Amino acid sequence: MSEKLHIIGVVGLGLMGSSIIVALLKSGCQVIAVTPLPEELEEGTQRILEQLQLADDMHLLKENQPTYTKNLTVSSDYKALINCQLVIECIIELEEIKKSVYQQIEAVVPISCVIASNTSAIPINILQQYLQHPSRFMGIHWAEPAYATRFLEITCGEKTDVSLAEMVQEEAIHWEKEPTLLYKDIRGFITNRLLYAAYRQGFELINQGVVGMAGLDKCFQYDIGSWITIMGIFKRMDYVGLNHYFQTYQTIFPKLCNSHEVPRQMEEILQTKGRGIHNLKGLYPHSEQSAKQLEHNFAIFNEEIYRLADRYRNRLKELNLAEPNGKQ
Ligand SMILES: NC(=O)c1ccc[n+]([C@@H]2O[C@H](COP(=O)([O-])OP(=O)(O)OC[C@H]3O[C@@H](n4cnc5c(N)ncnc54)[C@H](O)[C@@H]3O)[C@@H](O)[C@H]2O)c1
Repeated sequence: MSEKLHIIGVVGLGLMGSSIIVALLKSGCQVIAVTPLPEELEEGTQRILEQLQLADDMHLLKENQPTYTKNLTVSSDYKALINCQLVIECIIELEEIKKSVYQQIEAVVPISCVIASNTSAIPINILQQYLQHPSRFMGIHWAEPAYATRFLEITCGEKTDVSLAEMVQEEAIHWEKEPTLLYKDIRGFITNRLLYAAYRQGFELINQGVVGMAGLDKCFQYDIGSWITIMGIFKRMDYVGLNHYFQTYQTIFPKLCNSHEVPRQMEEILQTKGRGIHNLKGLYPHSEQSAKQLEHNFAIFNEEIYRLADRYRNRLKELNLAEPNGKQ
């Protein structure tokens, strides 16, 4: 159980908020769930219970459901946050609304309470300026479903007290996360930036006629996909042996795509208002049945890979592969 962050508030009871609440309940925290919309109270409570059931269906709960729900308070009154040690804002992605939510949180929580946002796109440096006490503010970015993923990025804004972010990183281990601390606010987060670099290169190869989309996807899936869950890209370099990388970098880096243009396929998608499997207009052809199959199979796969990765995570932990400066 988390020692310093035991009473945690979550503001916003949508898809991510309810999933984060279950992740925190599952790790033994007391959770104060607040919806800024009084009319959402019943529906939001229901959403949390549904997510808890999903975690149970995945056999991720060690105790029965009432053991967790007794640690849950759901309210539409910000005053319920009065004893929180951390409050995570998880409301719609609108800057003006987030600003007013921070004002209401700060009006009730103690000065020692850390305040965080799960924002996907608004810079922490911008959100931070809306706080009366910006040094206690940071990004805590979760992946869906929050109770069945290890990913967590903690982002410092320029005014964040780094020691607070380090404390959150330590405590997040008790939430069964593998947290990464970003000492500076960057656009796009670490994983997105790495992936965007791969997309840029991928589209270039396709548009040069080197390979088709399905062929490229297969390479990525069956090569990188076969090792990425057990080690990151740099551990992989050590594993493979470092001797040839210097020369390869010298040869390959100048050949990599450095374009600032959005790939033409994305312009076409924009025009057709494509949302992939969600409206059956995507980069691949989809039918209702194939979309459902993909969703269904991904849910099962997600559960299996979570368990598989966990077995090796525990074994490799014993190796304690920290950086020489102690950063994890
Ligand atoms: N969906 C994801 O996979 C994902 C992943 C990472 C981060 N995020 C981020 O998490 C946050 C929430 O995303 P979500 O997917 O849960 O959204 P959602 O639309 O499911 O839920 C948004 C919630 O915001 C609150 N809300 C709605 N209108 C409001 C208003 N006018 N005033 C105050 N509160 C209001 C409600 O509690 C609502 O349930 C966003 O900042 C989003 O960028 C989402």
